Amino acid sequence: MILYFSGTGNSEYVAQKLGMAVDDEVLNLFEAIKNSDFSEVYSQRPWVVVAPTYAWRIPRILQGWLERTRLAGSEELYFAMTCGGSIGNAGRYLAELCAQKGMRYRGCMGIVMPENYLALFTTPTKEEALRTIEKADREIEGAARLLEDGEDFPEPDVSFGDRVNSGLVNTLFYPLFVRAKKFCVTDACISCGRCAAVCPLGNVRLTDGKPVWGDRCTHCMACICRCPQEAVEYGGHSRGLPRYTCPQKAR
Ligand SMILES: Cc1cc2nc3c(=O)[nH]c(=O)nc-3n(C[C@H](O)[C@H](O)[C@H](O)COP(=O)(O)O)c2cc1C
Ligand code: SF4
Ligand code: SF4
Repeated sequence: MILYFSGTGNSEYVAQKLGMAVDDEVLNLFEAIKNSDFSEVYSQRPWVVVAPTYAWRIPRILQGWLERTRLAGSEELYFAMTCGGSIGNAGRYLAELCAQKGMRYRGCMGIVMPENYLALFTTPTKEEALRTIEKADREIEGAARLLEDGEDFPEPDVSFGDRVNSGLVNTLFYPLFVRAKKFCVTDACISCGRCAAVCPLGNVRLTDGKPVWGDRCTHCMACICRCPQEAVEYGGHSRGLPRYTCPQKAR
């Protein structure tokens, strides 16, 4: 079974494509994570977890869900991490997670998809994004072939910098950068409630028709990128920058 978490659609796209290629069930973890639902899930086929890269590791909210949820049936666990450039040394921590769960780690594939981190960087135009996704499609096909042949995903070379990024930098990243304080709303807001509905942590609520952010943010970029009015800003940084959601549908 393919399990996925996705803020802006890249990992959803990869999960759906993989699911179609290997003819396996695809499950969105949004509701389970949002509702802290850690009930067992079952599959006889190998598990594949697809997720974005946050500071060179899988998102902490997904890590926490995986630590607490029993994946019953198959004991094989693969990972595919979508990223803007590099997954660093994420594999080391995923291998540890598998050991902790008593499961067999089958490798982690990094798949470069369009950058979505609007709070810190710029996001690509639709044309640039489509070009990146075309390249990613070949990686996804490769991953599907390995799954079908029962092979491990190959481990990438890991540099000293990768180790530092996935280790120390990841540890510092959450307390230093991951906050909702800078989110704000402009007069373009039409009170549709979408920003609240798409938050995987229930961190956005509407007060007098306008979004208010709490302090449980994981910087997934769903609220800012999925607002139909582009009425959410992240301080001054996001002004005038394109909002990103995956422009391609899996087929
Ligand atoms: C909080 C955050 C941290 C990120 N950290 C990394 C990173 O360490 N390395 C990287 O290559 N991309 C990084 N990115 C980019 C995303 O991993 C990438 O765009 C991903 O495909 C988004 O997936 P999604 O659309 O499924 O949410 C980061 C994005 C966010 C929002
Ligand atoms: S998604 Fe945008 S328009 Fe809708 S309530 Fe949120 S900020 Fe307002
Ligand atoms: S507040 Fe926005 S960026 Fe933070 S977790 Fe919720 S949807 Fe994601």
